Amino acid sequence: MNLDPNALRSAFSRFMTGVTVVTTRTPEGEEVGFTANSFTSVSLNPPLLLVCPGNHLSSFDVFCRAKIFGVSVLAEGQEDVSNLFAASKEDRFAQCKWSAPHGGIPLITGRAAGFVCDRHAAVPMGDHVILIGQVVHFDQADRPGLGYGPDGYFSQGKERQAQAPGGGPITAGILLEQDGDIYLEADMAPPLIEVAPGQSPLNAMQEALQAQQIEATPDVVYAVYDDAGLGRRIVFRGTVTATPNGLQRVAIADLPGLALRDAALQSLLTRFAQEHATQSFGFYLGDQDSGDVMSMGER
Ligand SMILES: Cc1cc2nc3c(=O)[nH]c(=O)nc-3n(C[C@H](O)[C@H](O)[C@H](O)COP(=O)(O)O)c2cc1C
Repeated sequence: MNLDPNALRSAFSRFMTGVTVVTTRTPEGEEVGFTANSFTSVSLNPPLLLVCPGNHLSSFDVFCRAKIFGVSVLAEGQEDVSNLFAASKEDRFAQCKWSAPHGGIPLITGRAAGFVCDRHAAVPMGDHVILIGQVVHFDQADRPGLGYGPDGYFSQGKERQAQAPGGGPITAGILLEQDGDIYLEADMAPPLIEVAPGQSPLNAMQEALQAQQIEATPDVVYAVYDDAGLGRRIVFRGTVTATPNGLQRVAIADLPGLALRDAALQSLLTRFAQEHATQSFGFYLGDQDSGDVMSMGER
């Protein structure tokens, strides 16, 4: 069976990893290193790990013979170090900070974790070698590691911060209206979805409605608030164009009597019922306890 290597590489890349720089010295004492995401922890007793140097590396022979090598797990923000050890042809070690805390093996400064290993085994495997090392020194820092996936680098810490100032996730909700009624989930809350990191809340909601075969369009934002326990909430109003399955139809006028467990949502639904009665809607901006309602006029 003929497999397309590029397609295979792309499929492999769906497996998200961290990023490491693998280092050693030539017999003459010159530092060599390359970026690797083939790092895997193998065993605690004895303490073993592996990386897979490929035969395309300029330092391949050095690593195949190395008696000792190091692995620096890069921290978020160290994309430039990863690129340096993946691409640069200049002296890589002159362009980054490093130290040699054990056995003279360079480890990258600012790493999330570092390991120095005695060579345990080197098993040729296709166009790579599985280099298994026995850990003789390790350290770690209180820093999130740098991630690598199909879209390139990512970092957990930054993704979390981007989600909401409080560090929590973003949830989008929608008030689905039809002829004076609203559609709610079985627990009487409006449909709520988690917005993936970096995703637009509006797109996320449109996709979720489509996936659930709910024919509706989110048309205005009704509330944006931070809930200390739940993160940021963005609630849309939307119009239903075909009766959705699996949701409860409730008269908007009955919303104040629902007594939802989520007090912020209950207060939002109560306000919605009151505003719906006068057809004069406001936009809420605040947190779960207090905020401002700005008039949006009639709709
Ligand atoms: C994120 C990332 C992960 C990589 N993982 C590996 C790996 O596990 N094994 C490998 O041989 N090359 C890997 N590479 C490619 C090498 O880093 C790159 O080919 C190498 O640095 C080239 O070094 P050279 O110029 O000394 O040959 C990776 C590259 C990147 C950007």
